[in-house]
Amino acid sequence: HKTIKKICCIGAGYVGGPTCAVIAEKNPDIIVTIVDINPTRIAAWNSDTLPIYEPGLDKIVKGCRGRNLFFSTDVDKGIIEADLIFVSVNTPTKKKGVGAGYAADLGYVESATRHIARVAQSDKIVVEKSTVPCRTAHSMRYILEANARPGIHFDILSNPEFLAEGTAVPDLMRPDRVLIGSLDTLAGRAAAASLADIYASWVPRGQIIAMNLWSSELSKLAANALLAQRISSINALSAICEATGADVDEVSYACGLDTRIGSKFLKASVGFGGSCFQKDILNLVYLSESLHLPEVAAYWRQVVEMNEYQKRRFTDRVISSLFNTLTGKKIAILGFAFKKDTGDTRESPAITLVNYFRAERANISIYDPKVEDSQIWMDLTEPGVVDDLAELQKQVSIATNAYSACDDADAVVICTEWDEFRDTYLDYGRIYENMKKPAFVFDGRLILDRNRLEGMGFRVETIGRAASSFKTPRDWE
Ligand code: NAI
Repeated sequence: HKTIKKICCIGAGYVGGPTCAVIAEKNPDIIVTIVDINPTRIAAWNSDTLPIYEPGLDKIVKGCRGRNLFFSTDVDKGIIEADLIFVSVNTPTKKKGVGAGYAADLGYVESATRHIARVAQSDKIVVEKSTVPCRTAHSMRYILEANARPGIHFDILSNPEFLAEGTAVPDLMRPDRVLIGSLDTLAGRAAAASLADIYASWVPRGQIIAMNLWSSELSKLAANALLAQRISSINALSAICEATGADVDEVSYACGLDTRIGSKFLKASVGFGGSCFQKDILNLVYLSESLHLPEVAAYWRQVVEMNEYQKRRFTDRVISSLFNTLTGKKIAILGFAFKKDTGDTRESPAITLVNYFRAERANISIYDPKVEDSQIWMDLTEPGVVDDLAELQKQVSIATNAYSACDDADAVVICTEWDEFRDTYLDYGRIYENMKKPAFVFDGRLILDRNRLEGMGFRVETIGRAASSFKTPRDWE
């Protein structure tokens, strides 16, 4: 099989950027060029301030950039020069048309594929890195073959990415496994071996798994669905805990000790977010429906519905605790990213909560250590709605630190589990002094020591724990 000398990655996002930066670092003999049609993003990758925040990423990019790692808007040149091309473009949920709200929008994958076919002057290995519905590789091959110059051969591989935002660098450095799906032909297996060599520079061979294309594609959707399902399962239990006086952290701990279950992804919260879980489950739902498996579709759909229910339930608890009205009250939102250690806000539960609080006519002050103000404004406005921003800014403000966000607030709502919001970092005594009384804290991420805060005078309401005012039902006493 062929030894790869030049790699091109189409899509300089949360996946393409970190993945190819690590590949470049671990393979100093391979030239890696990451291309994107978004010039602002490429300029940021070439600047001191990278477009995404990811612990450890700066050092890697700055170490390889200009040596064997390049960022460019010249997609044609990237494709022409490469032996192997990663397609790492976005695959959001379709907003319109057939499958709207469920199916993945494969428009970006298709246009990247057509671009490859149009400009390629030599044989290429095309690697599907984006998360796609099962059998997309088939469509890509069809498009490539129908549009390619005569005599040019393409091999298609599926190589889904399992990194998680916030831990992308350690995830890439020590992956649990690398999947390489290929056709079971001589050419397919040879292409897979070429890609395996790249990973083998740092990943033990035993963890680089070859399989058929469709298994590899489906494994990515399956893994995300199974992970999200654990969160929805523990969140469903959190509702039972609140109604009974059981404590979800204790239940989670007890269940997690069972080695068959394990402790990861069993933390109750206000709900999961991020660009992938919801999108990929809906994608699986749509796939199930197209395969005429309605029961399977309903099963997975419920994982997403439970997540929506959890956000609504948490909001209802805030409203009822605050004496059934939020009108004119100040709510401090701590955290806007969908989880800690990332600035990404896609599908963040904070967006849904703020929208619910706005509908209740609350005044909202938001603080997040890594999310840009412009991103928050974008997430809270409907594109194209006139005066939306002006209306929004009457109700919502963005604070530069946690203390000013909480100043004069009626309630503090923890939406993201940033370490700096823990009571071991933040001075909650100082926050309490400057809040309206009674001062409420709603812990949507189970990061606070309730007893300690209640000792300061706060009223603390935590996901998966009975309300402070909870009384055991009389017939149980
Ligand atoms: P992203 O939106 O951050 O990046 C995609 C980039 O592709 C954008 O910068 C866009 O301008 C560029 N692009 C789109 N069409 C293009 C074209 N024809 N030519 C050149 N550039 C083009 O998306 P992200 O988060 O990196 O996700 C990419 C894929 O990886 C998705 O399929 C996603 O499901 C999957 N994935 C994402 C993970 C995550 O944590 N974000 C984890 C694992 C997989």
